[in-house]
Amino acid sequence: MSIKHHIKDYVVFTKSDGEKYINVFNDFLSYNIKIIKVFRNIEDTKVLLIDTQYGKMILKIFAPKVKQNERFLKAMVKGDYYEKLFEQTERVRKEGLDSVNDFYLLAEKKTLRFAHYYIMLIEYIEGVELVDIPEIDDELKQKIKASISGLHQHGMVSGDPHKGNFIIEDGVVRIIDLSGKSPSSMRMAKDRIDLERHYGIVNEVKDAGYYRLIFKKKFRNFIRRLKGKEVR
Ligand SMILES: Nc1ncnc2c1ncn2[C@@H]1O[C@H](COP(=O)(O)OP(=O)(O)O)[C@@H](O)[C@H]1O
Ligand SMILES: [Mg+2]
Repeated sequence: MSIKHHIKDYVVFTKSDGEKYINVFNDFLSYNIKIIKVFRNIEDTKVLLIDTQYGKMILKIFAPKVKQNERFLKAMVKGDYYEKLFEQTERVRKEGLDSVNDFYLLAEKKTLRFAHYYIMLIEYIEGVELVDIPEIDDELKQKIKASISGLHQHGMVSGDPHKGNFIIEDGVVRIIDLSGKSPSSMRMAKDRIDLERHYGIVNEVKDAGYYRLIFKKKFRNFIRRLKGKEVR
């Protein structure tokens, strides 16, 4: 069970033993953090490696600026995406799925049910990213495939299994930057198709989700072409 705290104007979620992460969050609020490395620094997303009194951690700050209205409506209807990811992560790791990047703390600034600023403390995985491996051999491909099917068996999806979202730690495949979305058969099919696209890992499961996804893609392209014709 995650625990909800109120700190300044943030709603904060931690696991039951989350005290140290609250301390790190408070340090962050008082600008008392040591940045070791900047992984990502674009307008709406910052990903930092920080040094804390408890060791290295990843600090991710996400302040979505685009599609504010759409996001607001979605959040009202569907609930919060990162809260779901936080809960899912806790659940699957308890079930023993260690491949998933641990999620220590989620802080949100909210208006009604709509969060417009997220701060996340995440487990730092020290290893080699797939992007930095020149040739991914068959053994590694099998491990990647197994990690995604394990994720699906535990009711989670990656949403974006490209080479920047896997880290090999001591020979073990770890998955980062996961999706908090519910694991529909179509989203699972998308993960498998992406594995084929990025790594040549053949998708062997052609279930209803797979055919629905293919149909959706074809339909979308059809509409696009149709619109193209209208424009001309
Ligand atoms: N838990 C982690 N351990 C180590 N490196 C990480 C971790 N999370 C993110 N990174 C690094 O930061 C980069 C961006 O983080 P990510 O969560 O994938 O953000 P984005 O949503 O921008 O893709 C990753 O590609 C990786 O290099
Ligand atoms: Mg990523």
